[in-house]
Amino acid sequence: MSEEPQAEEFDTVAAWTADAVEELGADHALPAACRGSGSPAALEWLADRMGLAPGMRLLDSGAGVGGPARLVQGTHGVEPTLVDPMEGACRAAERLFGLRTLVGDGAALPVNSGGYDAGWSLGVLCTVEDKVAQVAELRRVVADGGAVGFLVFVRTVEELTDPPEGNHFITAEELDELVREAGLEVVDRAWLGDFDSPPQDWQDAADAVDDVVRRDHGDSESFQEAQRNQDRMIRLLRDGSVAGRLVACRVPGRRAGRDT
Ligand SMILES: C[S@@+](CC[C@H](N)C(=O)[O-])C[C@H]1O[C@@H](n2cnc3c(N)ncnc32)[C@H](O)[C@@H]1O
Repeated sequence: MSEEPQAEEFDTVAAWTADAVEELGADHALPAACRGSGSPAALEWLADRMGLAPGMRLLDSGAGVGGPARLVQGTHGVEPTLVDPMEGACRAAERLFGLRTLVGDGAALPVNSGGYDAGWSLGVLCTVEDKVAQVAELRRVVADGGAVGFLVFVRTVEELTDPPEGNHFITAEELDELVREAGLEVVDRAWLGDFDSPPQDWQDAADAVDDVVRRDHGDSESFQEAQRNQDRMIRLLRDGSVAGRLVACRVPGRRAGRDT
């Protein structure tokens, strides 16, 4: 399957999103930049179950435009570092939120082993083939006793009809196995669909950003490709053949100076 539609969705559209937010105002930034991860309620649940707290260093692997990292910087006081292979996404996260970003692959994170208190990967594993390497890398960069979190879009049926190009969905059981094989201990799990949807003003702000992007780029092949891919994903989520799975994990061991 071609990776091209995802490059459009995650790179080019990220830059357009930042442009649109600059036109509409900073209050549009968070809703527009959290599109990949669902609701703030689900992200806060995951942050709570991971035990995120002020001053903790959080590595966000496949951070996109940085909405989730910025959200938990505000709610839980963490110090995030964002990694994403798409330069456009990293630049957008810097422009929108002034966050620290590194261009890099989640399967070879450009940071030292054990240098973070926590790490997460949100909406990324279903977009990559080598999931084992992605999970192993998060495990590597988080110190003993630290926390690792995932939001993974999993398939609930044997075969998906017309899935988005470039996606590789596993089941919730396979996700559990993946996490266990990486040596992580599961603390808690949840389904994204069980959390409240974002409030209406949040949705309205995200839609307004979409409208500006469509106004300025709707005729381009890049926009249309990204839109087709997004529409396929929305259809699978609506018919229930794909669902968001949240998993909070812990790296075994004790952390110096922390009660684990
Ligand atoms: C659906 S978006 C989610 C973005 C963000 N985590 C969020 O929840 O809003 C998937 C992200 O995974 C990134 N990605 C794709 N391949 C990757 C890889 N090999 N390593 C790390 N991230 C990757 C994409 O560039 C994109 O930003």
